[in-house]
Amino acid sequence: MLLLAAGCSQGPGATPSPGAGGGLPAEVMQVAQERGLTPDDLVAAAKTFMPTGKLDPYFIFSSGGHSGQVHVIGVPSMRLLKTIAVFAPEPWQGYGYGGGPSRVLKEGNMPSGKELTWGDTHHPGLSETKGSYDGKFLFINDKANARLAVIDLRDFETKQIVKNPNAISDHGGSFVTPNTEYVIEGPQYATPVGWEYADIKDYKDKYRGLMTFWKFDPMKGRVIPEESFQMELPPYWQDLADAGKGPSDGLIFCNSFNSEMATGGIESGNPPFEAGASKNDTDFLHIIDWKKAAQVANSGKTETVNGMRIIKLPTAVAESLLFLTPEPKSPHGVDVTPNGEFAVVAGKLDPHVTIFSVDKIRKGMAAGSQQKDPFGIPILPLDSTMEAQVELGLGPLHTVFDDKGYAYTSMFLDSAVARWTLGGDYDKLNPEPGWTLVQKLPVHYNIGHIASIEGDTATPGNGFVVALNKWSTDRFANVGPLLPQNFQLLDSSKPGEGMKLLFDMPIGFAEPHYVQVMRADRLKPFEVYPQVGYNPETNQVDPKAVTDPKKAGIKRNGKTVEISMPLIRSHFTPEHVRVKQGDKIIWHLTSLERTRDATHGFALGGYNINLSLEPGEHQTVEFVADQPGIFPFYCTEFCSALHLEMVGYFFVEPDPVANK
Ligand code: CUA
Repeated sequence: MLLLAAGCSQGPGATPSPGAGGGLPAEVMQVAQERGLTPDDLVAAAKTFMPTGKLDPYFIFSSGGHSGQVHVIGVPSMRLLKTIAVFAPEPWQGYGYGGGPSRVLKEGNMPSGKELTWGDTHHPGLSETKGSYDGKFLFINDKANARLAVIDLRDFETKQIVKNPNAISDHGGSFVTPNTEYVIEGPQYATPVGWEYADIKDYKDKYRGLMTFWKFDPMKGRVIPEESFQMELPPYWQDLADAGKGPSDGLIFCNSFNSEMATGGIESGNPPFEAGASKNDTDFLHIIDWKKAAQVANSGKTETVNGMRIIKLPTAVAESLLFLTPEPKSPHGVDVTPNGEFAVVAGKLDPHVTIFSVDKIRKGMAAGSQQKDPFGIPILPLDSTMEAQVELGLGPLHTVFDDKGYAYTSMFLDSAVARWTLGGDYDKLNPEPGWTLVQKLPVHYNIGHIASIEGDTATPGNGFVVALNKWSTDRFANVGPLLPQNFQLLDSSKPGEGMKLLFDMPIGFAEPHYVQVMRADRLKPFEVYPQVGYNPETNQVDPKAVTDPKKAGIKRNGKTVEISMPLIRSHFTPEHVRVKQGDKIIWHLTSLERTRDATHGFALGGYNINLSLEPGEHQTVEFVADQPGIFPFYCTEFCSALHLEMVGYFFVEPDPVANK
């Protein structure tokens, strides 16, 4: 009560007085007093509350960290809208439990066939047209196993997983070139190319970084491995990367954090990686001419390893595809400004952000440099490429932008978000002079990535910033020693009043590494699948779809039994499926529903099969009926009042010989 009373007397920002003139109902004041809410708390609640039936204007697409999934969250309500299954099985969506999605998950297995059922998702990359999100596809990388997944935003389903044939860890992806010509998967820990075995004493000669350029076909909605290529990089542990746009279109910027080429071995008395890899005052920002690299790859100046074309390091140097410029030690993020004129690098062991001029870099690339690294790559001196430095504080990591000429940098060690002004052409957009720190707002705690509205595109919005905090410590009720991460939504709409904290969202499903925030109106997802019998794997009506209920039935051909089964509220047809132990089962299921949200499930107990059949969807599941017995199959979605009756029996007659 005291808090509110004090706030009310403070003039601007105070809560409107209750009652008269259409002001707040007295109950609001009463609740605020009972709960000890401040006027700022009430404003934050009003800015984030979403009345029933109202829709969030923005979507967060969040990496699910080592849950292997992607999460979709509404802004400003911070309501979790969906988890998209990507690299790990997910039963609600029938992902990994028979049917089409299981085949997608299997595509991502190791070339040896070794099954991978988790991933460490890091950077979601929304597809772009002219440097702006186009709402069509979402890409995400798996750092642990060097894989890339393609999600179609018409149905929010994972359509493809590609395993990188020559790398086993990645980090600097996924991100797209301005028209999604390529999806880039940047490397992390150098290994011998193509998993050749080489001892770490041969690190400098045999270990390499590898930048992968996955060619994307937007019509097919698939990555085309045969048209993709890779470029060898020195073994400097490349980190995050970003594609240029506007004046920097055609370039890729990628930083690195072990230009020392430390090889660790603490157990043998060598300096540990953490010391060896942070010895130098500067590391190297890599500048890659990807348009020229694509020409070089297509002209055949490549070596093919494990089916993938690779531009070897000497070729990259000879063809002027790769340049280096020093950057403050152990950097993490490199982020291109919306106008494409600058690349901002945050060195996590340096209190500054360093701003590089694309114009100066281009001039340096044209002039060349006599200074070379041990691999002959030209080094453009820092004083010839740097535009400015802004001192922000401790542990700057990543930077995003808005449409008002402000940049927002996450400060890991400070646990803060720093707002600062861009210079150059941006100087006139806001009242403060360019390259100036204007505010630091504490966040809770240890912020990693940061996001703003479309803040990594050519056309950012404004209003909100999301702080992706790695630790939550004391922000939520104790749920045991494994704590959730914490998304904090900040109001950045009024620069004059400074940023304000609006909302805490616990993330109880693994550390979301990076997120992108997109305007919801860019999306046009299906409400139901466009035709009955639609196969989401092929985006067509499946030839085996049972669109006519009269075609339902069971056909035996030797030891193979094919079941054609339509589903509609509230029955499967047929309801009795009789097979013999050892039969191969091919089960076609088609939802005949046309009503939005009328989803049916198909659970077959004892066989680890569970499908989700959304309205109009078709799936085929194949398995061997190796266990005799009686197995009810039933619908797992509460689809109608007779949902419990949506059931059938799978009779597997024992084989007397097999069971002897
Ligand atoms: Cu169909 Cu429950």
